[in-house]
Amino acid sequence: MSKIKLAPDNRDLSQFPGEYGLPFLGKTIDLVKDTVGFCTDHYERFGPVSRLDMVKNQRILMCLGPEFNEAALFDPKGNFSSAGGYGSSLGTLYPEGMLIRDDKQHKRTRRASQPAFKTEALKSYVEMLNPIQERRIQAMPVNEEFIFYDAIQETLMDVAARVFIGLDEKSPEAQRLNYIFETINKGLITPLPYNIPFTTFSKSLKAREELRQFFKTNIPLRRGSDAEDMFTRYCNAQDEDGEYLDDADIDGHMAFLLFAAFDTTTSALTNILYYLGKNPEWQDKVRNEIFNINNEMPTFEDLSEMTLTEYVFQETLRFYPSVMILNRRTTRDVHVHGYDIPANTMIMLSPPFTHRMEEWWSNPLEFDPMRFSPERSEHKRHGFNYVPFGGGAHKCIGMHFALMNAKLYLFRLLKNYKVTLRPDYDPAFMHVHLPRPIDGLPITLTKI
Ligand code: HEM
Repeated sequence: MSKIKLAPDNRDLSQFPGEYGLPFLGKTIDLVKDTVGFCTDHYERFGPVSRLDMVKNQRILMCLGPEFNEAALFDPKGNFSSAGGYGSSLGTLYPEGMLIRDDKQHKRTRRASQPAFKTEALKSYVEMLNPIQERRIQAMPVNEEFIFYDAIQETLMDVAARVFIGLDEKSPEAQRLNYIFETINKGLITPLPYNIPFTTFSKSLKAREELRQFFKTNIPLRRGSDAEDMFTRYCNAQDEDGEYLDDADIDGHMAFLLFAAFDTTTSALTNILYYLGKNPEWQDKVRNEIFNINNEMPTFEDLSEMTLTEYVFQETLRFYPSVMILNRRTTRDVHVHGYDIPANTMIMLSPPFTHRMEEWWSNPLEFDPMRFSPERSEHKRHGFNYVPFGGGAHKCIGMHFALMNAKLYLFRLLKNYKVTLRPDYDPAFMHVHLPRPIDGLPITLTKI
């Protein structure tokens, strides 16, 4: 894949109010510390559109509210580029990722990925997820505090190995892939993304190469196999001319899928348990719903009975959408909601800020899953006031998988255990990279 060549970013945002912040770091520290607080402060002082600098003085226009989400995500005219928005961040390690492609190239990738996300594929993943989750949940300590974030990370690593790559999650190969994957992702959050020997970033590039080699070696072995994991599905996918995807594409899609799926789901499940621990009456409601399902191992069809669980999932992602900031870059001069935004401007959208706007939500700071019920449907007050999975062409392709995975996990956990937090637990949350309680959520399980 050829590297994207772009005109330099537009740095003249002097017509907008805002603050650039410190030399080199810009406002990065404030934004990372408390993304929602930072956006709220800018909104109150400068209005919905304001300028700031991020690390390395990258100049950015923050655009707050559903109107801007709609313009940048729905974007039928291609005024906003996702490749431009993420090329200099995610693109350094995942240049072939779906989110780093626009227009025709993106459509092609999306089409090639469909077989791995169809209902029939999702059903086969249920069969793989159930035993992994059962084994991992059974191994958790009972009547003894432990850090849930670490436990769910291990579980989801097993899921990545089995469901995404088709490996036995206990095999040495799967363990090695865990290490590779962790090492790659450390490169995404290092402030020094330069390929200098022994640095985090150079280790990360090396790990990415090892992953590439793994896929390259295994593609011929998987072709023609009837295994049902995502990797094998990609290996067997054919385009309209009956041609297989080429190796580089499969590697690019798989590496990005692993990246896009893992931390987002870890964050979501950790935060769901936080809210269920803080709101025991909701934990009981979800458990009652689960008790009404007459299967030890839930089926794909059973999951549609878990509506209250789904509202809890949605409400958690309203407060803490796993992806707290979305990026785009304008491809031309655009006029949005009364503002003229010049071409080649980096744009930042904030899902969690939008999710807490009083104009669009009743008592937005209250945990109230029923706001997602059909009678209230607060998430539909504007087509883009609820965007935990983005929207438009790049809307999360793994959304249904993520919800299914979370429901299966909660089914098994809550059917067997009560989840308790420390008395008066009120943790600081980290916001970037991916929101969760900083201490990793200490919980205690008691047998029901
Ligand atoms: C709770 C879990 C998840 C959340 C909150 C989430 C959120 C998102 C968001 C917000 C986007 C759009 C980004 C943008 O437009 O800038 C996105 C895209 C994407 N997600 Fe997810 N995601 C989750 C889980 C997953 C899973 C499990 C997978 C794969 C199985 C996945 C694969 C992807 C891919 C491939 C894209 C890029 C789609 C495209 O460019 O067309 N995600 N996700």
